[in-house]
Amino acid sequence: MSQIKSLIQPHGGKLINCYLSENERKETLLRASNLPRLILSIRNIADLECIANGVYSPLEGFVNEQEYNSIVKDMRLSNGLAWSIPVTLQISEFVAEQYKLDSEIALAHPNGEILAVMTVTSKFKPDQNFEAEQVYRTADEAHPGVAAMKREGEVYLGGAIKLIKSIPYQDFLDYRLTPEATRVEFAKREWNTIVAFQTRNPIHRAHEYITKIALELVDGLFINPLVGQTKSDDIPANVRMQCYQILMEKYYPQNRVCLGVFPAAMRYAGPREAIMHAIARQNYGCTHFIVGRDHAGVGDYYGTYDAQYIFNEFTDSELQITPLKFEHAFYCTRTQSMATGKTSPSTKEERIHLSGTKVRQMLRNGQTPPPEFSRPEVAEILVSSMKLATV
Ligand code: ADX
Repeated sequence: MSQIKSLIQPHGGKLINCYLSENERKETLLRASNLPRLILSIRNIADLECIANGVYSPLEGFVNEQEYNSIVKDMRLSNGLAWSIPVTLQISEFVAEQYKLDSEIALAHPNGEILAVMTVTSKFKPDQNFEAEQVYRTADEAHPGVAAMKREGEVYLGGAIKLIKSIPYQDFLDYRLTPEATRVEFAKREWNTIVAFQTRNPIHRAHEYITKIALELVDGLFINPLVGQTKSDDIPANVRMQCYQILMEKYYPQNRVCLGVFPAAMRYAGPREAIMHAIARQNYGCTHFIVGRDHAGVGDYYGTYDAQYIFNEFTDSELQITPLKFEHAFYCTRTQSMATGKTSPSTKEERIHLSGTKVRQMLRNGQTPPPEFSRPEVAEILVSSMKLATV
């Protein structure tokens, strides 16, 4: 048996768990039914889950004003710990009056079920344009992350949460692994070094290439697709999950890959989101994190490698997870293999890479993406899902 070193520490040293004990649950639910109720948005629910099960360790609730300001301005919590995007609970000014400072409120699922209680320790109305400029590097409301942030409401409530009930999900139940569960799984597999792969797309050849280079260096690969809210023209998570499953079955060594979903919404915040993604993966127990070309980017709001450069703004002791940075990968017709500019002598004409927009266009026209871009099984799933979507 190989020697298992202890897994990487969660960010801040402790894996947060906000679930109430069985006894506390009954009593709290009873109390909560008489509290002012706040119906959570889909984004809030994903964040609530990530806070409760420690994906966002060390956060124990939605951020208060002090933490919010510190994160937005300095990319750090007020105690100096790295944190790049404020995790917020926002409401409209219209309903804000119902929720009083220093009192408890019940957080409910849109189906009416009470999921959690929160003690409101902070209620504030920040400058959202400043937040947008700092976090998203633009205040342009055409940016999907900025638009979503503004849609959520202008008044922010902060405070620690206590979860009464697990989030009632209908999908991907076998893949909803908590950090506690992934840590057990990684240890069981005797992995010391684990690389996490964040994606909001089907895994194409370039993704496969970079994940496999990473896999040459470490013990295991954690494919951790984001399945929270994405913009409407991204490929839906249920279609993507079929692609990941078939790829794992046919194109990856199964004993070296683990698939689990990342519940959070996509912020499209590029560099700042890369930091948040990395921290969350450290909490899952990963030692390495893939950051490729325009990570978490959208349109042309960010430079191709901005999400890599931002790691230079943190010291090694601030972020324990190691970013594995990759250049733009493509299929090279000269060498007949996947490559990057670092490894291929090809001219521009000899490089096959398709943008997401181009692929979606092809799919809409019933065309199959070429094998240099996508494995045929993945292409087939995408083409048939597109057909279903247009009937
Ligand atoms: S993201 O929003 O989750 O970053 P995507 O699913 O496309 O989008 O990317 C997943 C990861 O693969 C990111 O780290 C991204 O930078 C990287 N990546 C995507 N395409 C390429 C490519 N052609 N070359 C190198 N890295 C890539």
